[in-house]
Formats: sequence, structure tokens, C-alpha cells
Amino acid sequence: MKYVIGNWKSNQNITESLIWLDGISALRPKFSPDLTVILCLPFTDIAAFNQRLSDIGLPIITGSQNVSHLPPGKHTGEITANMLCELVSYCIVGHSERRRDFKETSEVVAQKTRLLLENSITPIVCLDLPYLDEQIKALFNLDIDVSRCFFVYEPISAIGTGKPVDPVDANHVAGQIAFLTDNTAPILYGGSVSQDNASSFVTQSKIDGVLVGTDSLEPTLFAGIISSLS
Ligand code: PGA
Repeated sequence: MKYVIGNWKSNQNITESLIWLDGISALRPKFSPDLTVILCLPFTDIAAFNQRLSDIGLPIITGSQNVSHLPPGKHTGEITANMLCELVSYCIVGHSERRRDFKETSEVVAQKTRLLLENSITPIVCLDLPYLDEQIKALFNLDIDVSRCFFVYEPISAIGTGKPVDPVDANHVAGQIAFLTDNTAPILYGGSVSQDNASSFVTQSKIDGVLVGTDSLEPTLFAGIISSLS
């Protein structure tokens, strides 16, 4: 199985998210049964998007981009894994933007990962050099079953810059992640993925898919990525 995951980040309100869905539906991209398409939305869009998705029957699975590291309780404003499990099947954790802007540590990322798994949501754990060892060790420290996670190599230099890394270099790092996680989990690449370069990553031996930021926002570009991998 191959994977394409869209990450809208802090973009699109409900109305815009439904316009996107109608847009991609009209484009009729070819969805291969060998390709799983996941879209990680802002919390506020998910319920309405899921409803419209089931009405039009597109094979897109929804995810969120964050979750609380705390269980249900007195934590004003937090969205817990228990709330999300009725809405999504996947959740991104440890994105470099959250590590940088919200000071999320690998220990906090591991706590989020554990709560997601307890609520049957697949964590999509973002990793980067030179911290792979420490980021993965934090998961093992909480006895997390890494075979139930997805991992994404996301080099900061490539995120939102239009400058992806060389697919062969990405494959090398994916191999390191595979080694550190006992070859049990899907490993993806993220960073300036486009319809022109997506297949050059996914055809690498250790890379099972791509995480797409900027080009997931435009239905034409995201449909192009889906078609290029189908
Ligand atoms: P990008 O973002 O595709 O805009 O580089 C990737 C990501 O941050 O997930």
C-alpha cells in the first residue's frame, strides 16, 4: 500500500473546506485501490467535511493535525484523543512547526502518540535529522507499539520552500527510520512534494508515501499528486 497525506495546516474554514471537496470531486482523480489518501484538516472543519465526504463517496480518510497530550479532564480548550476518535482515523504529531512554535518536546509527542493509540487513532509521527534517535527513543520509553504508527521524514529545509531533498537522500533517511523502528511501520517523506516529484519519492525502496502541505490546498494540485501515484 502507498500513502498520500494532505496537511492543510491552519488554512480553510468550513465553507472553504467544502468548496475544496466539491472541487476535487469535480476533477474525478483516479483513486487506485493501492493508494490510501488521507487529509489532515483543522479541527473545526472535520465534522462538516466528513458529512459531505460520505454524501459524495470519495475515498478520502480524514485526520487531524494535533491532539492534546492530556486525557479528558479540567484542561480548558484542549481537544483530546477521546473527542477525536469519533471524527478521524489519523492524527499528525510532532510536526516541526509545533516543535518550533509551541515548544513541543519529544516526550510530549510520545504522550500524544500513546493517547492516540489508546483511542484507536493512527499517529503520523513527524521526524527530522539530527534528532531521529532521540525522537524515536522517547516513543520506546513510553512502551509505544511503533508498528501501529506512521513515520514521516520531514527535513525542515524542504518544508514550504519549494526545495525538496534528493529522493535518494530521503530514502537513506527512511532506511534509518525503518531500522530504528524495526521495519514495522509505513515511512513517508514530506517537504515540497508536488505532482511533478511525488512519484520520485514513492518509487524509492524505503518510502511508502508522501506528506503534502502547500500543494494539498489546491484541489487541482492535490488531484494531480493522487493521479501521479495511482
Ligand atoms: P510543504 O509542507 O508540502 O508545503 O513543504 C509539508 C509539511 O509541512 O507537512
